[in-house]
Amino acid sequence: MVVRRRVDDALDDLNERHERGRLGGGARRIEAQHRRGKLTARERLHLLFDEGSFEELDALAQHRATEFGLAEQKTLGDAVVTGYGRVNGRLTFAYSQDFTVLGGSLSEVVGKKICKAMDLAANSGAPMIGLIDSGGARIQEGVLSLAGYADIFLRNVRSSGVIPQISVILGPAAGGATYSPALTDFIFMVRGTGQMYITGPDVIRAVTGEEVSHEQLGGADSHATRSGVAHFSSESEEACIAEVKRLLGFLPQNNMEDPPRYDTFDDPQRGEDDLLHIIPDNSNAPYDMTQIIERVVDDGEFMPVHEAYARNVIVGFARMDGRSIGIVAQQPSHLAGVLDIDASDKAARFVRFCDAFNIPLLTFIDVPGFLPGTDQEYGGIIRHGAKLIYAYAEASVPKISVLTRKAYGGAYIVMSSKGLLGDINYAWPTAEIAVMGPEGAVNIIYRNEIASADDPDAMRSELAQDYGERLVNPYVAAAHGLIDDVIDPADTRRKVIRALEMLENKRETLPRRKHGSIPL
Ligand code: HXC
Repeated sequence: MVVRRRVDDALDDLNERHERGRLGGGARRIEAQHRRGKLTARERLHLLFDEGSFEELDALAQHRATEFGLAEQKTLGDAVVTGYGRVNGRLTFAYSQDFTVLGGSLSEVVGKKICKAMDLAANSGAPMIGLIDSGGARIQEGVLSLAGYADIFLRNVRSSGVIPQISVILGPAAGGATYSPALTDFIFMVRGTGQMYITGPDVIRAVTGEEVSHEQLGGADSHATRSGVAHFSSESEEACIAEVKRLLGFLPQNNMEDPPRYDTFDDPQRGEDDLLHIIPDNSNAPYDMTQIIERVVDDGEFMPVHEAYARNVIVGFARMDGRSIGIVAQQPSHLAGVLDIDASDKAARFVRFCDAFNIPLLTFIDVPGFLPGTDQEYGGIIRHGAKLIYAYAEASVPKISVLTRKAYGGAYIVMSSKGLLGDINYAWPTAEIAVMGPEGAVNIIYRNEIASADDPDAMRSELAQDYGERLVNPYVAAAHGLIDDVIDPADTRRKVIRALEMLENKRETLPRRKHGSIPL
């Protein structure tokens, strides 16, 4: 009887500890968190994980610091909740920073908890998700806190290309603390509350005299449209976490697996008769490439990545006959779909992610060339454009391309061309492949003839027409095997699905080396 009571007492004690831990920094700070328009660490995990599937780790961990009043501020679990569970039935790990405990700051113990979860995720081959809401390094713990960040960065790098890593910015992420998200594959941000910057508005005012608000400097819109640091931005935490779950649905658990395949009711044989009519008669007129993408992929479902950044190129995920694919495409309705610095970076990074995680690439091409200008040259378009060549050349996943209209100059080579080991390259009959457009070409090769003609304009236009008819079409490339076939646009979906089936077991061996030297 005595023993029985001790077990009951022990259980009560345990429950009381867990209950206390679950309250984090206490009711008053939880209320303050809600007043800031933010959910708590646990409410966020509740949204992310399948009902009842979350198993917490280190709920009883405590910091060991005693100085600066920390001895009196010990909270069970400290300032982060870590663990694993199921997201849409699939094993997923997460850490969720608790702003109610010392501002979610990273102590030695918080660092160790996060690293333990990261190690388990890497060893079990499951995605790792960081829900970030933190004042950064715990000021009172000094170098131990900084060392905790270093341990996290190391694991971010070691897990890169092994498991998908996602960061969700739901509060402050300042200073060096931004670099863990920056080392992960995708960053989601919530407008109005998620903020990332290396130095905040006060430091900027002191150093440069510039006045800028927290949101202008490091808010979701700034990073999703201008800096390209964020891949996704959302209006609310609920919408943001729903998007994280949607993204996970396209990804494999790790680099040794294929992405999940889903049943689809969308007929793989489905033709799309009006596809060709999306291309305007005037070859310089814009059109919206997403209309083509949505007509070709399963159920018209396309998830753009970096949607608001470098809009002249589109990247994102979709499915073809139930299989995940990564799409890269020019957007002729923005800057005519030219390749510039930001578009090259955006597309190159996406190609490398897909390659690392066995996601086949489907490229829709309509590119008039690289963007001319001193801004671009001084900004290093040469080295940024080289990243995209490198990424496509090195990618060993199935690479299929569909040339809808223009493929001029170096940009033809960059975009998944046969020379960069594109597996299947299709062109629509509207395709134009050449070193440059007809006007520019005849101005160079017939310069003297045009200059001495009675009517230079008439001669230029006649020569341009002849050049266009002879060279600017897909049939020269098809005659040399650089295009595998010129296809009726209506057949695009069927042809791409067949090619993906054919390439399902593609294996390609790269030369042995430690790693290449990508022009970063
Ligand atoms: C310890 C911290 C803290 C920190 C916040 N708190 N940041 N405690 N270490 N880094 C505490 C506050 O004292 C406060 O405690 C509670 O968290 C909530 O903070 P508030 O300031 O009341 O919240 P808010 O007004 O929303 O402002 C949030 C904030 C601000 C913008 C994050 O707290 C702030 O500027 N904190 C300092 C940020 C910082 O400089 N961190 C170090 C960066 S350097 P009470 O008890 O009042 O609730 C860094 C380097 C990383 O991180 C390097 C990696 C290599």
